[in-house]
Amino acid sequence: MDNKMPVPNHIAIIMDGNGRWAKKRFLPRTAGHAAGAEAFRRTANYCRSIGVKYLTVYAFSTENWKRSEEEISGIMKLMGKYLKEAITDMEKNRVRFKVFGDISRLSPELQKLCTDAQERSAQYDDVQVNFCLNYGGRDEIVRATKAFAKDVAEGKRQPEELTEQMLSGYLYSADVPDPELIIRPSGEMRTSNFLLWQSAYSEYVFLNVLWPDFQPKHLDEAIMEYNRRNRRFGGA
Ligand code: IPE
Ligand code: IPE
Ligand code: MG
Repeated sequence: MDNKMPVPNHIAIIMDGNGRWAKKRFLPRTAGHAAGAEAFRRTANYCRSIGVKYLTVYAFSTENWKRSEEEISGIMKLMGKYLKEAITDMEKNRVRFKVFGDISRLSPELQKLCTDAQERSAQYDDVQVNFCLNYGGRDEIVRATKAFAKDVAEGKRQPEELTEQMLSGYLYSADVPDPELIIRPSGEMRTSNFLLWQSAYSEYVFLNVLWPDFQPKHLDEAIMEYNRRNRRFGGA
């Protein structure tokens, strides 16, 4: 990558296409998810090496529970394995790890791994990885609204004082700047309930590569495309 090229501060990725990758190879879908986990590791390391400060990845959506029990348990097993390895990696690389999503629906072991990873890495602030697990953009907004309503009911807040900035503070992404760039591989061109609030002015780049095949050159390509965009934020 050309080191004069400006790099976004926050990149978000919808890690999609694992199933199709496996199907093309006559493999079970879980093999696609395992290859997807490798692609994540590779991409996270590359992002760190080029100076991306925040990386947010969509790993499992609130809608993905509609899949077969077999596929879901395969994905959850992989998450457990990945998180265990990631804790060591994160300490080595000083990466702060955050989970965006409702972990209460996960197994107690997985919940514990998530909390451990978050607690042990909270002290690092060089790079932050936000891992969206049982995450939905609408669900996130409903939760934020409920939390605000609760504060109002308890007399801590007044309805009139609510601002966009205040509502942002109730989201999983409180304290995280909005992503400048959102990448979706696999050829699908939709948000699938990812970062609905935070993506108001994000640039989307859709790539025709399946997530397990995603390489640093694809990230470079997306960043180059991002740099060609003219961001106006509603201005003239
Ligand atoms: C993304 O890959 C992983 C998850 C949604 C958990 P998919 O499993 O959606 O792969 P495709 O879209 O079927 O190829
Ligand atoms: C979005 O992909 C969710 C993740 C990548 C985790 P999906 O494969 O679930 O989205 P749809 O079903 O194609 O919209
Ligand atoms: Mg998909």
